[in-house]
Amino acid sequence: MISSRIERVEESATIKSSKRAKNLISQGIDIINFTLGEPDFDTPANIIEATHRAMLAGETHYSAGAGIPELRNAIADKLQTENNIPTSAENVMVTPGAKLAIFESMMTLVEEGDEVLLFDPAWVSYDACVKMAGGKTVWVETDPDRNYRPTKDLAEYVTDKTKMIVINTPCNPTGAVYEKEQLQEIADLAIDHDFLVMSDEMYEKIIYDKKNYSIASFDNMHERTLTINGFSKAYAMTGWRLGYMDAPQHIFKSLEKIQSHTISNVTTFIQYGGVEALTGPQDELHKMQAAFKERRGVLVEGLRELGLKCAMPDGAFYAYPDVSEFGTGEEITDRLLDEAHVAVSPGIAFGESGKNNIRISYAASVDRIQEALVRMEKVFQ
Ligand SMILES: Cc1ncc(COP(=O)(O)O)c(C=O)c1O
Repeated sequence: MISSRIERVEESATIKSSKRAKNLISQGIDIINFTLGEPDFDTPANIIEATHRAMLAGETHYSAGAGIPELRNAIADKLQTENNIPTSAENVMVTPGAKLAIFESMMTLVEEGDEVLLFDPAWVSYDACVKMAGGKTVWVETDPDRNYRPTKDLAEYVTDKTKMIVINTPCNPTGAVYEKEQLQEIADLAIDHDFLVMSDEMYEKIIYDKKNYSIASFDNMHERTLTINGFSKAYAMTGWRLGYMDAPQHIFKSLEKIQSHTISNVTTFIQYGGVEALTGPQDELHKMQAAFKERRGVLVEGLRELGLKCAMPDGAFYAYPDVSEFGTGEEITDRLLDEAHVAVSPGIAFGESGKNNIRISYAASVDRIQEALVRMEKVFQ
């Protein structure tokens, strides 16, 4: 009865582990929940106020499918000035979360049987979106000790069916940030073999000592790149469902068709919140960035003291330790929840390479991180 498109896809394993944690929390058990991919901060007040003003001013009607001009202009400005992408507002589509931007792109571009390259490990929803579009994921093995570069020449994965490669920097789950030269290699390959690049830059504002480079800013890359971004992580706006993508004109018109026949437009007054997020004061963002940096240090040092191999992530808010000395990622996820009441996600959710890892989201206060480290001692001994 269920279509094969959907039968191919499993429930997100990160959502599964967060459901288990929430179930225990609802029974009154004090679980420290590190499964979530969302900041624990509230949305900055100036963004809420701007949205409220928009509602009161009557911005409660349909808007243009691709978004209100004020927001598309603000996003285009940001992409030009911060990311050096040679774009304009006509290439910007406002979407209900970056997730739908990814889904719409796959549905628009991937044909039955097309191949999409994904670096292993990768955020859970790319593979699901490839499958829903009828495509096939080709997993690229990477080396954690070399900033997750491919273990062999990337060109070896390319066939005449390769339609697209997905990159995600800073990366969920590893926190790795691609070096400029790493991106240049991908760009050269995409041009030589004529495939597209989806560049998911959701975590670009949560980056510590490195710089984020947008591949769409590289020579001749804008015409073959979809740049995905949003407000969820940078501005603590996960529940608002507000994201966007930048796409070249030859693809944009088709993306617009999906959006117009499905959601029509992102909730109109929400889009005004997005304008305020980009053009208003950035102090709350800076406070959140500083808090994430402090938490990263406390968590990673603590995990290393517990004997785990854990890289210091360059971006995002996840630590991705190797737990193989103590068990598989799945075994340790279960033991941490049952014995220490600490909820994490198993690395296997992000690809085969993650079987010995767990992902710990440090979107929690320093006090809670410290308490979790104490609780974890009983599992890591
Ligand atoms: C890498 C990555 N891209 C995209 C998203 C989706 O974000 P949004 O809330 O805008 O749909 C997430 C959310 O977890 C993510 O981790």
